[in-house]
Amino acid sequence: MENKYHKFNACIEQDIAIEAKDDMPDAYRKTLIRQIGQHGHSEVIGMLPEGNWITRAPTLKRKAVLLAKVQDEAGHGLYLYSAAETLGADRDDMMEKLIAGKMKYSSIFNYPTLTWADVAAIGWLVDGAAIVNQVALCRTSYGPYARAMVRICKEESFHQRQGFEAMMALAQGSEHQKQMAQDAVNRFWWPALMMFGPSDDHSPNSAQSMAWKIKRFSNDELRQKFVDNTVPQVLQLGLTVPDPDLQWNESTGHYSFGEINWDEFMAVIQGQGPCNHERIEARRKAWQDGQWVREAAAVYAQKQAVAQSKVA
Ligand code: 3HC
Repeated sequence: MENKYHKFNACIEQDIAIEAKDDMPDAYRKTLIRQIGQHGHSEVIGMLPEGNWITRAPTLKRKAVLLAKVQDEAGHGLYLYSAAETLGADRDDMMEKLIAGKMKYSSIFNYPTLTWADVAAIGWLVDGAAIVNQVALCRTSYGPYARAMVRICKEESFHQRQGFEAMMALAQGSEHQKQMAQDAVNRFWWPALMMFGPSDDHSPNSAQSMAWKIKRFSNDELRQKFVDNTVPQVLQLGLTVPDPDLQWNESTGHYSFGEINWDEFMAVIQGQGPCNHERIEARRKAWQDGQWVREAAAVYAQKQAVAQSKVA
């Protein structure tokens, strides 16, 4: 029997995008629903720490920019849930799994935003890390995911730039503002490195995801790229990187850096981070409070379909 996935394998081999209607191994479909669904959850939960500061932004301009960014993240979540649905995923099911702790979201969003500088750090460092990861995903083998990434990356660039600009304003401000900026870097630097996932030798999904070209680079390769990109930015701000082992290596053209606290990473992704409970409770409440809206929209859509079928 001809290999059922001969066409799929040939497309992967030749960098031809896999589309929703193509034959694909169940495991390919399953791992994409896992990754895309969790990516969508990350975007939506990512709205919570920043949304916490919309009413407390220091100026009208910062409030308007933050509103636009948080609104963008909601849209990113919708693109990604729609991409997951092209694989047969059910949105309600993904939401129930998130709330039941059976689907993940990015570890970074389990840290609190204690000061305005944290909001700047999230835009600059977190979206900066997301860009490194998502630019690579623009070439992921699943077509709908890659296309969603192209659109999302355009908006992420604005997110990263506004975060850096807000950080620059603090770093060039009063001594207290500069200290607030340094404090934010101290608390968000290492969690930003954890966003790229476990080290390659502890990443159970990477080998297969690389073979299927879902991933184009490994977790450690993207993490290294982020560090190399971002350390010069920290120095440009006149701030310091909270890593005594950080060192530029002329011979490799990369920064070497200290060991990540993998116990902290594992605790956070297993639900024991500083804000995990608060984040999931917020999503549970929003999901429950929105039940009537979803039901009303479904009834309206059904009535529209009946009305159109009578006209047709
Ligand atoms: N947070 C939570 N869970 C994580 C994680 C993190 N930072 N890194 C890894 N994990 C989980 C994985 O999901 C996997 O668990 P699972 O099998 O139950 O899903 C486990 O740890 C082992 O990790 P692997 O490296 O084997 O898993 P992957 O091959 O899926 O790689 C990943 C992890 C690099 C995060 C990959 O899933 C990915 O690239 N995802 C898409 C990008 C994404 O989700 N980014 C999140 C940030 S979105 C964002 O920042 C929004 C911005 O606008 C602010």
